[in-house]
Amino acid sequence: MTKHYLIVGASSGIGKAIRERLVADGNQVVCVSRTSSPAVDVTLEEPAFPAVEGPIHGLVYCPGSIQLRPFASLSVENFRRDLELNFIGGVRALQNYLPGLQAEGASVVLFSTVAVRIGMPMHTSVAAAKGAVEGFARSLAAELAPRVRVNVLAPSLTDTPLAARLLRTDRQREAAAKRHPMARFGQPADFADAACFLLSPGSAWMTGQVVHVDGGLSTLRPL
Ligand SMILES: NC(=O)c1ccc[n+]([C@@H]2O[C@H](COP(=O)([O-])OP(=O)(O)OC[C@H]3O[C@@H](n4cnc5c(N)ncnc54)[C@H](OP(=O)(O)O)[C@@H]3O)[C@@H](O)[C@H]2O)c1
Repeated sequence: MTKHYLIVGASSGIGKAIRERLVADGNQVVCVSRTSSPAVDVTLEEPAFPAVEGPIHGLVYCPGSIQLRPFASLSVENFRRDLELNFIGGVRALQNYLPGLQAEGASVVLFSTVAVRIGMPMHTSVAAAKGAVEGFARSLAAELAPRVRVNVLAPSLTDTPLAARLLRTDRQREAAAKRHPMARFGQPADFADAACFLLSPGSAWMTGQVVHVDGGLSTLRPL
């Protein structure tokens, strides 16, 4: 049976890899972003979300930011912007599409960051915004069970356009790989696998979880 998925932010990086995997598996995928047609900017008060026919089996919300700056240099407006993109945009998408998430086993996947579980300098703004995503997801999962599942993926540094600035030079890439117990940084494919699992019946008994796909960074410590 063909399943119908909606991905917000499938034009690059992790969202693109998820879209390619779902399409390769024979699913129908509607993609929504600022470069899709129609263009949708989730940070606007009323984004022009396209209508989706029929029941939706899964929704993935990918837009996010990596604004790494010392707390003292961040304005309240910086915090607001991160919250808008990482969290409120997802709320808008879910408010719009939740009535359509009627298919049996419907599943929502949101994105956090490793920096919510472990404190990292320069991450106050993005960690606060993603912390909101995690709290929201647990509560929404409780509210929507057993009809719709809601889970979160929490990546560490992954090779996408968003992280390009942090993985520009060979030196940066080597250092980033070394920081992770699995001796490499993430690839979009790591998240295509994880997200497709969370969207599939294989994860039917998982909801309200934050899944740490981070090369072991948040939990392991070398001796
Ligand atoms: N990459 C990492 O190292 C890393 C680490 C920790 C967490 N994460 C999280 O993982 C998720 C995916 O990240 P990524 O690296 O794949 O990011 P990415 O390459 O920047 O992709 C983000 C996607 O969101 C869309 N988007 C951005 N702003 C939007 C807006 N205002 N309205 C609608 N769509 C918008 C972009 O499409 P358009 O440009 O077409 O709008 C793009 O398709 C994010 O939530 C991020 O915070 C990533």
